[in-house]
Amino acid sequence: MTAANRADRYAVMGNPIEHSKSPLIHRLFAEQTGQDLVYEAILVHPGGFAEAVADFTGAAGKGLNVTVPFKQQAWQIADELSKRAQRAGAVNTLTMGAGDKLSGDNTDGVGLLRDLTRNLGIALSGKKLLLLGAGGAARGILAPLLEQNPSRLLIANRTAERARKLAAEFSDLGELHGCGFVDLKGSHFDVIINATAAGLQGHVPELPDGIINSRSYCYDLMYASEPTAFVRYARQCGVQAAFDGLGMLVEQAAESFRIWRGIAPDTAAVITALRAQ
Ligand code: ATR
Repeated sequence: MTAANRADRYAVMGNPIEHSKSPLIHRLFAEQTGQDLVYEAILVHPGGFAEAVADFTGAAGKGLNVTVPFKQQAWQIADELSKRAQRAGAVNTLTMGAGDKLSGDNTDGVGLLRDLTRNLGIALSGKKLLLLGAGGAARGILAPLLEQNPSRLLIANRTAERARKLAAEFSDLGELHGCGFVDLKGSHFDVIINATAAGLQGHVPELPDGIINSRSYCYDLMYASEPTAFVRYARQCGVQAAFDGLGMLVEQAAESFRIWRGIAPDTAAVITALRAQ
């Protein structure tokens, strides 16, 4: 039997998946904490998610990370959901339990908050927050953001109606509203978070002039080896500071690792290693 056969198996499933940093992140976590595990990236075709999960479970897989476009499907096939996954409507972490019971969790929100508040020192309590986007990525981080007690949280989206609907859905958790980008004219925010998919095409949300300024901090959920389009745009606007989502990526992975292995890895060392690549 090889070491790989003995080690516990984990993987990330998505499409596309070849550029995923998750295998490297989890390998670094495993080395750092002395855990014996293997973690691979599995490309899943659009209609094949449930089957791929069943195959992985059948092959003694212990846990999965789930990324675009399968997070909602993972939510649907999970046998049980954590509170935060329930609310997010999406699952990024599946754990295979006794009797192959599938537990779903969502570590994206906690990953973002740990990066913002702990790594970058940006407190959100009492601050004016602007969330750009009203899709799955925005939904996944809304509840954790509201838990920080910002003085105001506004969701702005290209399609204003979608932002209003999302705000209404989470209004039991705090004071929040939805609007279109043009409605932002004249407003000021302390922290602006980009959860749109615009960056995938190298675009940025079309915001009125002055929304991003020298008083604001900007955070892009996206990460790329070069500064993302939103980070570049924010810097052009003279922002206080702009960050990409690498820290969030590592922090959400660390929370998945903790769920599976019961050990919280040192994320700072891994963020530094990835930045140096
Ligand atoms: P995800 O799960 O990544 O959030 P999604 O649910 O398809 O994906 O949502 C994509 C989000 O990015 C939406 O808020 C979308 O705006 P619309 O609701 O108006 O479609 C936003 N988005 C995508 N391309 C964009 C662009 N070029 N400019 C601004 N917003 C964009």
